[in-house]
Amino acid sequence: MERKKWRTTISWHFDGEAYVRGYKLKDLIGNLSFTEAIYLVLKGELPSEKEKKMLDAVFVATVEHSIAPPSVIAGRAVASGGNSLHVGVGAGVLAFGEAHGGALEGAMRFIQENVEKDPSEVVKRYLDEGKRIPGYGHRYYKDYDPRSKRIMEIAKEIGFFGRYCQFALEVEKEIERVKGKKLVMNVDGAIAAVVSEMGFDWRLGKGFFIIGRIPGIVAHVYEELTTEKPFSKRLDEEKEVEYLGEKPRELPESYKRN
Ligand SMILES: CC(C)(COP(=O)(O)OP(=O)(O)OC[C@H]1O[C@@H](n2cnc3c(N)ncnc32)[C@H](O)[C@@H]1OP(=O)(O)O)[C@@H](O)C(=O)NCCC(=O)NCCS
Repeated sequence: MERKKWRTTISWHFDGEAYVRGYKLKDLIGNLSFTEAIYLVLKGELPSEKEKKMLDAVFVATVEHSIAPPSVIAGRAVASGGNSLHVGVGAGVLAFGEAHGGALEGAMRFIQENVEKDPSEVVKRYLDEGKRIPGYGHRYYKDYDPRSKRIMEIAKEIGFFGRYCQFALEVEKEIERVKGKKLVMNVDGAIAAVVSEMGFDWRLGKGFFIIGRIPGIVAHVYEELTTEKPFSKRLDEEKEVEYLGEKPRELPESYKRN
């Protein structure tokens, strides 16, 4: 039979009924928690109790982390320009990158591709090449990231602390040994380790952060739209901006065409 242009394994309709990963959608409603439904959609199977608990912890750890990150600034700034909620939220998601949220993909890839290797050699290679190791370092947390600590505790409690978590912690120690200062395993690093334990592929990495953080961005954009004046998210040029350009100058005569 000729293969059709679009193909999917995720959901389908049979006899007028919607099915997700083979289960009737109506049976999932009221029976599955949101996290269980997310696991089903991403993994294709229903989670065990401990998989659900681990993924729940991942999403709660990600849900919000102040007004300061680029995604919230972008979301609120775009909303303050007179746009509706989805436009602000979309702008916030587009701010995710290698230094914020997007590091989860890099951290998962780093852990999955190097877990069999000697952590000290891996760290040395990265640092010698002047590369940043995704999942380590934080602007505020210099001793430990409380979110990572809690995720690791839960992983230990429910039996998800395996070779990926072990490797991630050894890398943290090794960076400190080589650099002579601590770069904490941040929330991306900790999540990368536990979702690797759960068998998720690194190419899904950014998805965990997007799913977890969107509620926080929605709340911020909603707050912006309902409590702040439009156009309030502009810079105070006198206080906040340093001008480094040319001093005022005359347009050359040859360009004065009127
Ligand atoms: C998150 C991050 C931007 C915070 O940066 P910061 O605390 O302001 O640190 P700086 O950018 O000022 O860097 C300070 C020093 O640590 C180094 N450093 C910071 N993070 C590093 C990392 N992940 N790997 C290797 N070196 C790192 C810098 O190269 C710099 O070294 P130097 O003092 O020898 O020049 C940074 O640690 C980073 O890029 N981490 C990797 C990406 C990541 O995991 N992001 C998710 C954040 S939740």
